[in-house]
Amino acid sequence: MPCMTLDPDIAAAAGERPAPPDVRVGVVSPMLAPAVRALQVAPEQLQFVGDTAYNLEQTRLDPNSEAMAVLAGERVVGFYRLDFSVEAIAGRALGEPSVGLRAYAIDRREQGRGYGTAAMRACIDDLRRRHPQRRLLALTVNVRNQAAIAAYLKAGFYDTGELYHGGSAGPQHLMLYRLAAAPSPSPTATAP
Ligand SMILES: CC(C)(COP(=O)(O)OP(=O)(O)OC[C@H]1O[C@@H](n2cnc3c(N)ncnc32)[C@H](O)[C@@H]1OP(=O)(O)O)[C@@H](O)C(=O)NCCC(=O)NCCS
Repeated sequence: MPCMTLDPDIAAAAGERPAPPDVRVGVVSPMLAPAVRALQVAPEQLQFVGDTAYNLEQTRLDPNSEAMAVLAGERVVGFYRLDFSVEAIAGRALGEPSVGLRAYAIDRREQGRGYGTAAMRACIDDLRRRHPQRRLLALTVNVRNQAAIAAYLKAGFYDTGELYHGGSAGPQHLMLYRLAAAPSPSPTATAP
């Protein structure tokens, strides 16, 4: 039997959310950059993420960062920054090789369609493939940012319970995702 896909309008009318189309992530190339610069969040969301064109520029100026685009089919729908510096996100090393996620945004016209969650899953796959030595993915999220918290939890992040007070918009949860298993304790470390 052929595989059937649900028309997004029919699904919406039925109160269901259709599965997001093919969502993937990739390094921002010169060809993708104009579409990334054009991404916008709602005015009230700027406090959580800032302006994406500015964030893209800052990422390019930082040799420890990678600018990433989120694509739904062939459309650019989002952006995030990978920060590979040792003290990224929490302002201190996390005890294992880690990478920070920053400036994550899905365009305001594309939000609420499952792209935010799907892109986090694609981000995790991408990191495991291209940066297998990194064991933790870290981020902070404002305690009032319910949409982002929901997307991160659905993608498998866990809340460490630690609050970070470094942001200008108020306290933030420190959330982590384990990309690779922690090293097992060395056998020589056991007591005689
Ligand atoms: C956070 C963000 C990336 C999520 O992207 P998205 O494509 O809207 O996410 P999804 O569609 O996958 O939705 C994730 C969950 O959030 C929920 N959600 C969406 N908007 C919400 C809102 N305004 N309030 C509460 N929950 C909300 C959804 O219902 C969904 O959960 P569900 O599937 O159980 O219903 C997007 O909202 C965004 O770009 N926000 C502005 C920038 C920002 O805050 N970035 C995060 C910085 S840490």
